Amino acid sequence: MSSVLQAIRSRDVRSLDINPNHWYVIGRSSEVKNQPVQVTLWKQAIVVYRDRNGEIQALEDRCPHRQVKLSHGKIIGDQLECAYHGWRFNNQGECSGVPYLADNQKLPSCKIKVYPVKEQDGFIWLFPGDVETQNFASPNFASLQQQPMGVPEWNHLNYIATVSIIKCQAHYSYLIENLMDMYHGHLHLNYQAWAEAALENIKEDDNRVDVLYTAQSYYKIDKIWSISQLFFPALRRLHPEPLNVSYIYPHWMSTLGSDFKIYCLLCPINETETKAYLIHFTSLNAFWRLHKLPVWFRRFLKNSLFGSAQKLLDGLVVQDVKMIEEEQIAYLENPQRKNYELNKALVSVQRLMKNKVEKMEE
Ligand code: FES
Ligand SMILES: [Fe+2]
Repeated sequence: MSSVLQAIRSRDVRSLDINPNHWYVIGRSSEVKNQPVQVTLWKQAIVVYRDRNGEIQALEDRCPHRQVKLSHGKIIGDQLECAYHGWRFNNQGECSGVPYLADNQKLPSCKIKVYPVKEQDGFIWLFPGDVETQNFASPNFASLQQQPMGVPEWNHLNYIATVSIIKCQAHYSYLIENLMDMYHGHLHLNYQAWAEAALENIKEDDNRVDVLYTAQSYYKIDKIWSISQLFFPALRRLHPEPLNVSYIYPHWMSTLGSDFKIYCLLCPINETETKAYLIHFTSLNAFWRLHKLPVWFRRFLKNSLFGSAQKLLDGLVVQDVKMIEEEQIAYLENPQRKNYELNKALVSVQRLMKNKVEKMEE
């Protein structure tokens, strides 16, 4: 084994880089309107805006003239205008106008980085990998051609969505391990999310880790009024349901029986800060009568019930973030201290994270 590889193998997962050759989520579609928006994805400052057709564009958030942030500027048609001296940039990252350019001067040939970006299922997905888009043989190009993971339930009429934003001062590995370790239902007992998880099976390949737990769920969504279980604990009854959790690099997805599906879409900011979007779906699949109603009514119902699990979801996030941030603090105080982990799923998850970074550096 080369010494570089050896160094990576022994590298601490808490200071691990990301593999940038994947689609990450930098925001919700609704967060980008008619002003440039500044986002950070793994230490890269990015400005996101909509051009005159409403198409999302993403550029490096840096004016090449004096290195200030382009996100302080304005959108003029299809161009982004810097706040300082009014230089303009097109969606190729090229300078397309300088307001005081003399007749005998040429436009500067400066160019800033352009990011592949897509809007899909209510979210903005960005590919931070360094892609030479003309190089079809490059493995990065192949990853770029893959579609973002997506959230197919987002527009589906049978699913009611709730979104909660996770902002935690911790490395992304702590968040993923929290999401994959269903033994932490203990922390959420007052929210009655799930109980008695027991690991049944782990499957892993180069891109994902799928873990099956058996568990008890408090919720059964089989009548239209069952949704009120989200608000009234007295209506909940424990019953067994399979609990699947998957780390589909770099995101996470889970199902509890057939009533609930949850996604966590990641935007790692740096080694000690992570943003993520948690999306909870309650399924209306069991109500076949509902499916016969006109589409406009079903859409109205879906939109009216949007956010119905907000209190539950936000409550779970606060509890999780507190634990995750404490883990990070303890790690920074003493990086050598070892954990005593019993859950094999976390070994698989750490292996995938490390392999993803190692492959990139081979
Ligand atoms: S710094 Fe942007 S135009 Fe001068
Ligand atoms: Fe949790």
